[in-house]
Amino acid sequence: MKSWKWGPGPGLTTDWLRLRYASVNCIEVDEELARSLGRRTENANVRVQCADATAMPYRDSTFSGAVAFTMLHHVPSPALQDRLFAEVYRVLRPGGVFAGTDGVQSWLMRMFHICDTMVLVDPARLRIRLELTGFKEVKIEDGAGRFRFFARCPSQDPDKVTGS
Ligand SMILES: C[S@@+](CC[C@H](N)C(=O)[O-])C[C@H]1O[C@@H](n2cnc3c(N)ncnc32)[C@H](O)[C@@H]1O
Repeated sequence: MKSWKWGPGPGLTTDWLRLRYASVNCIEVDEELARSLGRRTENANVRVQCADATAMPYRDSTFSGAVAFTMLHHVPSPALQDRLFAEVYRVLRPGGVFAGTDGVQSWLMRMFHICDTMVLVDPARLRIRLELTGFKEVKIEDGAGRFRFFARCPSQDPDKVTGS
């Protein structure tokens, strides 16, 4: 399975993913973080690109799976978050999976993000946002201080072609 992710930061979840998938592609917007993760994972099955996940440098229908762990709230507006969802949908193959997790409103989240971007995704609205993008089988699960989600591209979408 060729998976990819965005917002890897220092790469904690990348280390977990790369042991489980044949190939992992990461998009990190911060130049220094992208460079250091790229250096650290050199010669492994990981490719790190410094890019913005709201405008991905990938062809349509390239990946079988996509994940976003604790990064959606760093995308600075709901409109840009929706653009990111559309980009994920575009680069996933038919039947491809999109999953992730993010934080909800809490004192701790506010403390962590003093002087940093924090545009929280409302889990109650996420289902409709993903469905409007085109995703099916959307599942949202609430947890303590966070939520996780799962969605799938329809296996037959006439607008989607199978990539290489
Ligand atoms: C809290 S860290 C998440 C780290 C990692 N996913 C994990 O779970 O350990 C969020 C990361 O997302 C990156 N980021 C924020 N906006 C982004 C965007 N538009 N495209 C790609 N990366 C982005 C930030 O630079 C930061 O490294």
